[in-house]
Amino acid sequence: MTYTGRAVVAGSLGGPEVLRVVSRDVPDPGPGEVLVAVEAAGVNPWDWKSYAPASGATPPVELGVEVAGVVRAVGTGVRWFSPGDEVVAWPVRGGYADLVTVPQRVLVRRPASLPATAAAGLLAAGAAALHAVVATEVDADDVVLVHGASGGVGRMAVQLAVLRGAHVVATASPTWHACLARLGAVPVAHGPGLLDRVRAAAADLGEVVAAVDAVGTPEALETSVALVADRRRVATLVALDRAAALGIRALGHGPGADPGTDVRDAARGQLTALAADGSLDVLVTGAYALEDAATAHRRSRDGHAGGKLVLVTDAARASGDHAPVH
Ligand SMILES: NC(=O)c1ccc[n+]([C@@H]2O[C@H](COP(=O)([O-])OP(=O)(O)OC[C@H]3O[C@@H](n4cnc5c(N)ncnc54)[C@H](OP(=O)(O)O)[C@@H]3O)[C@@H](O)[C@H]2O)c1
Repeated sequence: MTYTGRAVVAGSLGGPEVLRVVSRDVPDPGPGEVLVAVEAAGVNPWDWKSYAPASGATPPVELGVEVAGVVRAVGTGVRWFSPGDEVVAWPVRGGYADLVTVPQRVLVRRPASLPATAAAGLLAAGAAALHAVVATEVDADDVVLVHGASGGVGRMAVQLAVLRGAHVVATASPTWHACLARLGAVPVAHGPGLLDRVRAAAADLGEVVAAVDAVGTPEALETSVALVADRRRVATLVALDRAAALGIRALGHGPGADPGTDVRDAARGQLTALAADGSLDVLVTGAYALEDAATAHRRSRDGHAGGKLVLVTDAARASGDHAPVH
């Protein structure tokens, strides 16, 4: 059987203006594969970086690395999933779509308490954040600095560090400070004078012993290495090319970086369980139709979305299980 659905692709390299919605045929899933009817797809900075001129990618570029949806069909050898199961998947290729085919190993069941939109924004950012918290050995009573704490990755890192009993100093624009304080962090504005502000914020907490960078600016890197004595407890998820010179950890995919495959794979189940029982909150600040992917990408590229952006399909809108479409 062949299925038909829409997908968002970058027809050429460039900015969000190159995004198109196309119709495509999707075959039955092969051995070990699962066909997922997508309800929501998470938007991540990687998505717009993947078709930027500097990417060197060959168009058309399929987009979308994480989805929440419902199993539509399974291939031979799929044991743990059946049609109708509500699932979350990461990493996938081509998740900005009505239908996506994924290997069964990237799937986890979506708990009933977790809306599809939140689930779609959980795993890519959450796995990176968990990797950073594990790599920097965040533990109870540690004072930890998180740069980019209002973003998808940083907000997860704040919550995961607080769950470990750490004290968190969190950098973000003032708009998001009240929100970060509610998560248990001490918020600090980024910008000139950051080092002094972090020192003041941490004065009553103790020495800053670890730092997680989800921003990559010179200001974030320099503040981290000025404060944290043990540079193995400073990690960047962004400035991978500067890490070796600073003696800090580079996490992700790039020369000399630690991809953290094991910890990120294990994160699927851990993050889903934490989100299901309310220990981990995914703040969705924008939900857009597939046709409006360019708008979502413009907002993501601005870098101040204040949480997760997601795309929602007609399937999700029909179920009513989504945040308001902006
Ligand atoms: N290496 C990996 O494995 C990996 C995995 C996932 C993501 N990443 C990367 O991590 C980065 C963050 O991803 P995300 O999903 O969290 O992005 P996001 O949701 O767009 O968040 C961006 C964050 O950056 C902050 N920010 C923007 N401009 C800033 C500036 N000039 N100075 C300081 N902070 C600034 C924002 O703070 P305000 O809005 O409060 O100003 C916000 O907290 C991206 O570059 C992404 O590609 C890497």
